[in-house]
Order: sequence, then C-alpha cells, then structure tokens
Amino acid sequence: MRVGVVGCGYLGAVHAASMAELGHEVVGHDVDADKVARLSAAQAPFFEPGLGELLERTLTTGRLSFSTDPADLDGAEVVFVCVGTPQRAGELAADTSFVDAAVAALVEHLRSPALVVGKSTVPVGTAARLAAVLERDAPHLELAWNPEFLREGHAVEDTVHPDRLVLGVRSAEAEKRLREVYATPIAQGSPVVVTDFATAELVKVAANAFLATKISFINAMAEVCEAAGADVVQLADAIGYDDRIGRRFLNAGLGFGGGCLPKDIRAFMARAGELGADQALTFLREVDAINMRRRSRMVDLAREACGGSLIGHKVAVLGAAFKPHSDDIRDSPALNVAAQVQLQGGDVVVTDPAALENARRLYPGLAYADTAEEAATGADVVLLLTEWPQYRALDPAALGAVVRRRHLVDGRNALDPAAWRDAGWTYRALGRPVV
Ligand code: UDX
Repeated sequence: MRVGVVGCGYLGAVHAASMAELGHEVVGHDVDADKVARLSAAQAPFFEPGLGELLERTLTTGRLSFSTDPADLDGAEVVFVCVGTPQRAGELAADTSFVDAAVAALVEHLRSPALVVGKSTVPVGTAARLAAVLERDAPHLELAWNPEFLREGHAVEDTVHPDRLVLGVRSAEAEKRLREVYATPIAQGSPVVVTDFATAELVKVAANAFLATKISFINAMAEVCEAAGADVVQLADAIGYDDRIGRRFLNAGLGFGGGCLPKDIRAFMARAGELGADQALTFLREVDAINMRRRSRMVDLAREACGGSLIGHKVAVLGAAFKPHSDDIRDSPALNVAAQVQLQGGDVVVTDPAALENARRLYPGLAYADTAEEAATGADVVLLLTEWPQYRALDPAALGAVVRRRHLVDGRNALDPAAWRDAGWTYRALGRPVV
C-alpha cells in the first residue's frame, strides 16, 4: 500500500521505517528539514536500537522516502498522524495544536481519497472533533484512530510485532484498510481490537495510567519498606510471583519520567475533569505525587551520604536519559535530581552513554563527563540514576579506586548491595534497609 506518515519524531520515524519494512511504499513528512535530511541519509535523529539499520535496509529498497513537502503525501491510501501532544505550559492538559495543524495540512494537500489515521496520544473526544472537520472540509478523507504503544528502546520491535492493534473506526472500509496495512503482524498473531474512536483514544491513556500506577504502587511500598527496615526488591519479587500481579513494572526506584507517562496521566486527569468524571481519576494525583517524591528522597539520600550538606561535595551522577537504551531526556528523573543536587550546593558531574548531547543543551549549567570513571573521579558520592547495562556491570573495586569517598546511592535498585559493601562502599537505595 501507499502509506504516508506525518511527523518523524520518536513515533513517526520508527513507524515510517517499520511500514516500509512491512512492504509498503512510504513517504515520511516532517517540517524539520534537518531531520528529513538525516532520515533520508539513513541516520536516526535520536538513539533507538535497530532504527539505523532499519532505515538503511528500507531506504535501499526504494520503498521509503522523507520529505518536507506535505504535497508529497498526496496519493497515499493511508496517512498516519504521528505528531506530539506535549503538556500545555502551566496546565495539566495536553496541547493538541500539532495534531490539529497536521490534519489541516492534510485537508489542504491531499487531493485523492485517503484514510487519515491518528496515532498520537490525544484527549478522548479529539478524534470525533477531527472527523467533523474532515466531513465538513474534505469529505474524500476518512478518519480512523489507531493508538501506538511503542516503548522507546524497543520501538522497532514493538511496531513490527505489536502486542495488540487497536483500530478505532467508523466504517467497515476503514477497518479493512487498516487490516491490510497490518496484514503481516495480524497473520503472525497480533490480536486486533476493533472499536469506536473514544474507546481507542482511552485505551492508550488507560494503559499508561495503569503502568504509572504500578510503578508508583511499588514506590509507595518502598517508602513503607524504608520506614520499616524492609527490602522492597524482595517484596516485589515475592508479590510478582503471583501471576495476577506479575513482576514487570515493579522496579522500585527513582520512578517514571519520559515524554509519555508523566504528561499522559496529567492530561488524562484534566480531560476527565472536563467530562465531569474527575473523581474517577483523583488517585492519579497520588500516583504523580508518589513519583515526584522519589526524586526529593533521592536528593535526601545524596545529602545524607555527604554528612548532611551537599555544599562543596562532589557528586557523580550516572545516567541522564529517562531510562536506559534511550537518549531521551524529557522529564528525566536523573537530570531533575542532578539539578536539585546542584541547587543545594553540590558540585555535580553527569555522565550517560547516549544522552549527554541532549542533556548539555537542556542543562548547560551542569558539568559532564564521557565515562563513569571520569565522572566519579574525586567524588564524595556516586548516584546511579539510570540503569544502563554498563553501569550495572561497574566494578566496585575499580570505581572505588578513583572516588574520594566510597558512598553509593542506587536510585534504580540495579546493583548488588553485597558486592558493593564488600568492596568497602556504603550502599544506600530507595526502599532497602540500611546496613
Ligand atoms: C511508555 C509505555 O510503556 C508505552 O507503552 C507508551 O507507548 C509510551 O510510554 P516509555 O515512555 O518509552 O513507554 O518508557 P517505559 O519503558 O514505559 O518507562 C517509563 C518510565 O518508567 C521510565 O522512566 C522507567 O525508568 C520507569 N520505570 C519503568 C520504573 O521506574 N520502574 C519500572 O518497573 C518500569
């Protein structure tokens, strides 16, 4: 099929390349000329494992191209809208102006009939509103809503082998088209849920609200564990054996960040309020509050490790990305903690295998180092804030040789406390007993 993709960010770039991988002829459109040039040269504009190779492979087939001209989308049978919906400044609600602008551009430039498919995460009701716009201004265009569940770091795999496909449609023809687009994953067993617009929109925010709740639940348990002298990691292992609960997303620590979970739960609360259903989601305020408290607690532990004050102490921060295998620093708990430690007088040096360039841009006032060893040299305390595999594999003796004091605070419960203590470190973590 001829497929168009509007917006080539984390979602759209991966979606465009994955659609070409599935055999479609794809045009990816973005207003950012630099991004389009890089994608056209098979360079992923952000760190995403496998994306570079996928671009290389699909660009050479001739089935994939990128363009800044929205007119190049004309002729596509299906056009996916993959633009961002960030949190509005000063509000909890989502800013849908990029989605509105993308649909307006399609109304202007698509002459041939097409199915316009929203993938962006939007407040429930957006699809119905946009469908009315198409009906009025471009009746040759039909709308469908097909939310995306990809995780950064696993985006290619999640797109080519989705664990479910949610198709919000208003006609059998729209469903048929989408089933054709996804014929390969459907044949391989990806389950399909065909539904209305509102349900499709809600599935996405409900899934993210559940994941955020699961993380904050275990982090709330971590707070109780700390107060009671218990161990949240063992607690998570033990409750996780119950397959009704499950161990995944029960990693206690610094909590969730990134471009999705924090802003999606806030936008969900705001939208529920508009709909008069705010009581249903008041628990998400608590989920958000527990999550933000983790960051302050981390700063407290760093201060305690420095003997009660951060002033004049050198603090090594391992990790800047909001999670490993990503260079995304949007609402990164790690950088948030680094900035708070600096505000309290700490002399902070941050390192990260992939996100340093982005971090430097957002926090030019922090100091940066290329490696963990370099960041830790002369440090009074080392904070592990993003659990990259290379940090999990650090040798406590080797790192111990470069620091000034062997104090470690593990913000992700990623290291073996016994191994670090045996090498002469004080090991503190969120939700684990002090020895
Ligand atoms: C999330 C959803 O998983 C995905 O389905 C949706 O499409 C977009 O939002 P993503 O933001 O890429 O994906 O990251 P995810 O892997 O979900 O992690 C989110 C945050 O939660 C990270 O900051 C991570 O460090 C944190 N986390 C995750 C925990 O603190 N504990 C856990 O057990 C799991």
